[in-house]
Amino acid sequence: MRVTVNQLLKKKKKGEKITMLTSYDSLFTKLIDKNEIDMILVGDSLGMVVQGNENTLGVTIDEIIYHTKIVVRNSSYPFIVADMPFMSYQTNSYDAVKNAGRIIKESGANAVKIEGGVEFSETIKALVRASIPVVGHIGLLPQSINQLGKFKVQGKTEKKHNKIIEDAKKLESAGAFMIVLEAIPYELAKEITQTVSIPTIGIGAGNATDGQVLVIYDLLGGDSSFNPKFLKKYLNLEKLVSDAISEYKKDVENSSFPAMENTFFKTKSKEEIISLYS
Ligand code: KIV
Repeated sequence: MRVTVNQLLKKKKKGEKITMLTSYDSLFTKLIDKNEIDMILVGDSLGMVVQGNENTLGVTIDEIIYHTKIVVRNSSYPFIVADMPFMSYQTNSYDAVKNAGRIIKESGANAVKIEGGVEFSETIKALVRASIPVVGHIGLLPQSINQLGKFKVQGKTEKKHNKIIEDAKKLESAGAFMIVLEAIPYELAKEITQTVSIPTIGIGAGNATDGQVLVIYDLLGGDSSFNPKFLKKYLNLEKLVSDAISEYKKDVENSSFPAMENTFFKTKSKEEIISLYS
């Protein structure tokens, strides 16, 4: 049985932490599923970590649907959230409902996530009216990169701190059932978490939130040049994969792969095989 909205809300009430990871493909989705992570986010971070773009802005609704379908098909436990890509909800509530409806219907996701605060409360109300569960996302908003200039911690000044608190309250009253808090100081994340009754999920927001999310490739150490303060790498995937590829290259070049045991023969005679392969 998949995790439900009610179970996630109950976790906050009971003080139990919520686990969330991004995923975009079958391999990692199966491993996340096996480890009973509560939620998978099919994030528009796929524009950066899968497609290799410098930001998330180019991701399309079709691409989110494509990756979310894969994640839904290859998991049975986690609650699945699909990101709404840039310009799929910013225009107006009608577009937001139409596009979110398409994502839910075609991909099988359980909810959508949108970036932004107070400005999107009418949009969130319209989505919830259409029976679409919504995760809000405040603090650092990667879809606003052209206004921000660079990815940096938000809410350090009194004015910005108060605006983000206001955003969190508005998201809750509009009907969002959860809020992602990205790249904000610990004190602010703690205050929001104590203020709203819906769960908060942090990324770069400290451990006072109700749960955590990380991009799966970041957690696995897929890129040695990406080392933000908030990230803990649980593996050196870049080195492991690179070493394996390099070993494969050597093996092919010196003919040690495929070895005898990786090869099909017509003959069943061991002696003949040994003499053929030497
Ligand atoms: O797109 C994404 O993966 C996200 C997370 C970083 C929260 O929005």
